[in-house]
Amino acid sequence: MADTPKTATLTIGDTTLDLPIHSPTLGPDVLDIRKLYAQGKVFTYDPGFTSTAACDSAITYIDGDEGVLLHYGYPIDQLAGKSHYLEVCYLLLYGALPSAAELEHFETTITRHTMIHEQMHNFFRGFRRDAHPMATMVGVVGAMSAFYHDSTDISDAQQREVASHRLIAKMPTIAAMAYKYSIGQPFVYPRNDLDYAANFLHMCFSVPAEDYVVDPILARAMDRIFTLHADHEQNASTSTVRLASSSGANPFACIAAGIACLWGPAHGGANQACLEMLKEIGTPDRIPEFIARAKDKNDPFRLMGFGHRVYKNFDPRATVMKQSADEVLELMGVEDNPLLQVAKELEKAALEDPYFAEKKLFPNVDFYSGIILEAMGFPTSMFTPIFALSRTVGWISQWKEQLSDPAHKIGRPRQLYTGPTQRDYVDVENR
Ligand code: CMC
Repeated sequence: MADTPKTATLTIGDTTLDLPIHSPTLGPDVLDIRKLYAQGKVFTYDPGFTSTAACDSAITYIDGDEGVLLHYGYPIDQLAGKSHYLEVCYLLLYGALPSAAELEHFETTITRHTMIHEQMHNFFRGFRRDAHPMATMVGVVGAMSAFYHDSTDISDAQQREVASHRLIAKMPTIAAMAYKYSIGQPFVYPRNDLDYAANFLHMCFSVPAEDYVVDPILARAMDRIFTLHADHEQNASTSTVRLASSSGANPFACIAAGIACLWGPAHGGANQACLEMLKEIGTPDRIPEFIARAKDKNDPFRLMGFGHRVYKNFDPRATVMKQSADEVLELMGVEDNPLLQVAKELEKAALEDPYFAEKKLFPNVDFYSGIILEAMGFPTSMFTPIFALSRTVGWISQWKEQLSDPAHKIGRPRQLYTGPTQRDYVDVENR
């Protein structure tokens, strides 16, 4: 954080305060209000964190007006086009692109951690078969602290490193197992000869009677989905991970908290909700009805896969995802799929509608990722688990960054109290 001597002056009644302003390497200046309560006896009020920087971070930069997303300075379209997921994982974890030797070492480390403790298979079997894979993942990832307690001491840098590797490596195995369990098929062990994305497809789609032959185009598209979801600055689930971590909770508990938050339809659950909405619309002639509902203030319905808190021009991840969708749909020969027709027509109708233009609502990453995953053969219930496994590296990188700052504090927001003022307790017989 490059500090400048800039200050802002705030007057509250008779008190005048000089508040420092920090200048980031990119983006708007940040007003430092940490001493505001001590000196001025007021809190700030920003319930949805629309104007609040909750931490400083060097990992990801977003300019929502310009549609820019950078990881350690590298644009997302370059990473998605030229790099691959495990290299991006290295970048997010260590802050620099790896040398060839570093990358090989990292890939070997991750590959060698993909199996999960055999005893965890029994843990899976405790769930109902019809459990949503996200419900299973929240439970299983939280339970990792019981299986891998040799990497839960957050004060030990080596244990933090091992926990990071374990989470990145085992998350695809856990997501695939949650899927296999939900469809009543046997678990498929990871294979070390496959790369990260191909191995995930293998664990999801192979059966003992027949190995799934991974098409390189699908593996590439899968890898791109992972890459495009790897990190996204201080979104709701990442902030949840940071808040959980601020109390000193172990990494597996923190990531389980992140998964739980991601599940909501306003966040990672939007990809499942979007596909289900397209199915509900069914045919292009019903689109006007759904657009009208999305615009109706008295109807809670929203067009899923549209809008973003930060992007107010376009979502740069969606641009890359759209290209990937075209490739996958051509390969799978489903360009004429009725669902896709609905998606294409809906996108066109919404982009031409003044309501969406005025409110700067554009298709986001979840609009296209669901279409790709559907074409690959994933059920909608697996869309958010795939987002969760991709985002794990972002969560764990932000967790590591937070813990490496010796000045980090427990997160403890205050509130604008609206309840009763103090009053005396009344015995039940006198109420
Ligand atoms: N359909 C219809 N109207 C919408 C939509 C939508 N998808 N999104 C926002 N609006 C309207 C909203 O009603 C509000 O109108 P008004 O100003 O008249 O009250 C205005 O646009 C601003 O919306 P907001 O809820 O104040 O904006 P937000 O920044 O709090 O919410 C959002 C962002 C992503 C939660 C929201 O756009 C949304 O619910 N979208 C659908 C869910 C979705 O696709 N989420 C995935 C986000 S991208 C992946 C990720 O990061 O997880």
